[in-house]
Amino acid sequence: MWEKMPSLVFRVTGCLLGFIVFTVFMSTFVAAGGLIDMGYGSRGESMLGGGKVSRSKEPIQPIPISFDYDSAKVELGKKLFFEPRLSKSGWITCNSCHNLSTGGTDNLPSSIGHKWFIGPINSPTVLNSRFNLAQFWDGRTKDLKEQAGGPIANPIEMGSNHELAVSVLQSIPKYVQWFSEVYGADIMYEEVKITIEQVTDAIAAFEETLTTPNSKFDYWLKGYNDFISTTEMEGYALFKDKGCIACHNGVGVGGNSYKKLGTAKPYDKDTHTLGRYNVTNKEDDKFVFKVPLLRNIELTAPYFHDASTWDLNKAVKIMAEYQLGLTLTENDTFKIVAFLRTLTGEQPSITFPTLPPSSATTHKPDRN
Ligand code: HEC
Ligand code: HEC
Repeated sequence: MWEKMPSLVFRVTGCLLGFIVFTVFMSTFVAAGGLIDMGYGSRGESMLGGGKVSRSKEPIQPIPISFDYDSAKVELGKKLFFEPRLSKSGWITCNSCHNLSTGGTDNLPSSIGHKWFIGPINSPTVLNSRFNLAQFWDGRTKDLKEQAGGPIANPIEMGSNHELAVSVLQSIPKYVQWFSEVYGADIMYEEVKITIEQVTDAIAAFEETLTTPNSKFDYWLKGYNDFISTTEMEGYALFKDKGCIACHNGVGVGGNSYKKLGTAKPYDKDTHTLGRYNVTNKEDDKFVFKVPLLRNIELTAPYFHDASTWDLNKAVKIMAEYQLGLTLTENDTFKIVAFLRTLTGEQPSITFPTLPPSSATTHKPDRN
């Protein structure tokens, strides 16, 4: 019996060793992002560590790679974002004007809405909109939840109204089930009443996940020097030295203040709108706009609220001229644009949702 012991000990230690190796392997594998699908927010876990250089004092900060979220709510919000039945025509979705395949915008000077109406203003991207201090060019809604009710009922956007939109969802059994699951009503015992607050809350929860981390510039901010070329680095230095950074800073590279269009030189084109003045009625707020985020800027042409240019080089020159009173050389403009292109991050990876069928009582599309 004793002579059998060594082999038993050997086997036990062998097993233990195997187990340790396996555990260590698995934890490194998981830490590295692995193949394990951790859902929204898991993008780029491999970048957690960062490089050797600390850049925490830079006026631009990297987009956090994960946020807390409620996955059932986000999934419901995603369906609503892609839900054409929220529009009167049964044809227009949030994604029509904030196309997630093209940087969260429609790449049109101004959007096409209900009955082919052309809107008055360029549609901003929904990507990273959680970093905005308020929503819309003039900041007239305080957050994404308040914003999401707007387009549904806007006659030249989705052309519906809140009662109609809610009644459409209420007529679709699957939605009643999902809303009750997310918002806590008991489908067996209570009459589940979907509310517009729940609709906008779910859409906002989905939009909160639409961030674009892991841009080349964010890697650099985390200390990985090789991600940025000399030209791009010189562009960033110019962006700071010339003064762009005064308005375009923070995580979103903008989105955190209101500034006048034409600080250094009056804007001589028709702005089509008085901007922030429409919200505050203060004389000083005429032609003041929310400073836009410059994240993913290369994807979101045409530029400015009035879409006055398609060319990013021109947009940079216009900014230098009207906001800073400077004339940029071709070379400096080229470098700044090279830097701006490093702000394009990893786009949200969206599984296109399958929407549930209508019922006999679902309101029919109305094109008028
Ligand atoms: C017909 C086109 C159209 C549709 C449909 C549409 N939007 Fe918009 N969206 C716009 C335009 C144009 C603006 C800018 C309006 C302004 O600032 O005055 C805007 C602004 C926004 C903003 C503010 C972003 C920022 O940077 O200030 C968010 C967020 C947004 N929309 C989300 C949505 C959601 C959610 C839906 C669906 C419920 C939706 N939009 C449907 C055209 C549209
Ligand atoms: C005084 C504040 C201020 C300064 C300085 C400033 N900007 Fe802007 N920037 C704004 C505002 C406000 C807008 C929105 C203007 C509008 O569309 O009405 C804007 C818009 C932009 C846009 C277009 C964004 C879009 O989505 O359409 C780009 C690109 C841009 N700025 C780059 C720059 C660069 C590069 C510099 C430096 C040369 C700079 N900005 C300096 C305030 C500023």
